[in-house]
This record gives sequence, C-alpha cells and structure tokens, in this order.
Amino acid sequence: MTYKIKLQKPDGETEIRDVGFEPIQEGELPTALDLLLQVQERELPELAFRYGCRNKMCGVCTINVNGKPRLACRQKLKEGDELSALSTLPVIRDLVVRRDQINRQLQGRIPRTSETRSDNGGPVTSEEYDSLNRCVECYFCLDGCPLHEQNNDEDHQTGLKHGNPYAFLKVWQAVVDPLANEEDRATALDVARDLGVKTCADCDGCKCGIGINLMKDVIRPLVAVAV
Ligand code: SF4
Ligand code: SF4
Ligand code: FES
Repeated sequence: MTYKIKLQKPDGETEIRDVGFEPIQEGELPTALDLLLQVQERELPELAFRYGCRNKMCGVCTINVNGKPRLACRQKLKEGDELSALSTLPVIRDLVVRRDQINRQLQGRIPRTSETRSDNGGPVTSEEYDSLNRCVECYFCLDGCPLHEQNNDEDHQTGLKHGNPYAFLKVWQAVVDPLANEEDRATALDVARDLGVKTCADCDGCKCGIGINLMKDVIRPLVAVAV
C-alpha cells in the first residue's frame, strides 16, 4: 500500500514523498501514526512528527490528512492518502508545527481559579466546567476559523492577536468556573473581547475534533454576555 507524505524543511522547501506500508496482518489498514512510525523506521529515519498517548488523549499528533485535520493515532488511512503538517500553524519541520503560541496567547491573562485553589480541602466543580475539560488541545478547531486566519506570520512568532475556538473555550471555562468571583469573570470577558469575540456573532461556527459542541456550549453563551 502506498501513501504520500509532504515533507517540509525548516527553510520552507517542500517535497511530496511516496512511501509504502507493509501490514503485519493481511488486510490491516494502518492509522496515520502506524504509517509514520514504520516509514521512520524503514525509509526516512529523520522524519519529524509528534505523538504521545496514542489514544486520543493528548492531542499532539494532529496532522492534516488530505488537507483536513485528523488525529494521526486514530485516523485510518486509505491507499493514496496524503499526510502533511497542520496547515493552521507554522511548520517547524516535516509534520511538526509550532503549537506554543496558542497556549501562550492566554498565559497569565485568564484566571484559572479552580485549577489553583481548593476550598475546604477539595476542588468545587460543576458539570458545565468539567465538560470543557474534555478539550485535548488537538487544535482541529483552528481550521476554518476566520478570526484565527487574521493572525499574520509575525503574530505567529511574537504573539497571536486574534482568538480561536480553543481560546474561547478556555475563556468560557474561566467564566463558568464555580470558584470564580465577579472580578475573575470580568477579566475573562475582557480577554474574549480583546481576542475579537465580536466576530463570532456573525460566524457560521466552529467545529471540535472530539465532539464538544462549541457553538452551543461556548460561543453562543460567550457572545451573549461579552458582545
Ligand atoms: S465562531 Fe468564532 S471562534 Fe468559532 S470559527 Fe467562528 S470566528 Fe472562529
Ligand atoms: S476545542 Fe476541540 S478541537 Fe479545539 S482544541 Fe479542544 S478538543 Fe481540540
Ligand atoms: S498520540 Fe495522543 S492523541 Fe494521538
């Protein structure tokens, strides 16, 4: 079985390489991660890609398959599929993208009250707050976000100015944090405004790679109080 992998050097030069996969059992369809691991072992020892848990838990293996974001550890491949780096973040090398600016955008700006404080010996949580903890930081949701697209190359190096679905999920979680006070909530809403949440009022919507209903559970309630 043959597939294509788009390789990218740090200077931006790209090459599409045809690669093969030899199944261990006849008829076995590889995941994208199976393919990458075998290709690295047998054909391209310097092939760069990320993975962690191998089980849809850590989100770091996200790549594009035929131009759409997919978790490499879960995505079964069809003959001829093309693997490339996530197109919504700057490529460092091959399938590795720069992920740090997404988290850094919120660093020190939104209160993380329940993460840092526990009253009477145990954290207080709510269903709404906990359900947003399902986010695995896979960054699927950057794909097609008109706000994220407004960040230019320099922003990707020095600091992202415009928001994205992941950022608004984290902001909304700070707002619904059962331990947050009014000042915490006001701070989080200011961050949402600063990141451009107003755009979300006229947007068709964002999609989560693991099934969080971002429009219903994050964007609409956030727009309702912040815009
Ligand atoms: S609703 Fe907002 S965060 Fe979601 S895709 Fe649209 S602009 Fe981006
Ligand atoms: S909101 Fe969904 S798509 Fe976006 S980073 Fe979290 S889990 Fe991934
Ligand atoms: S390796 Fe952790 S989600 Fe794929």
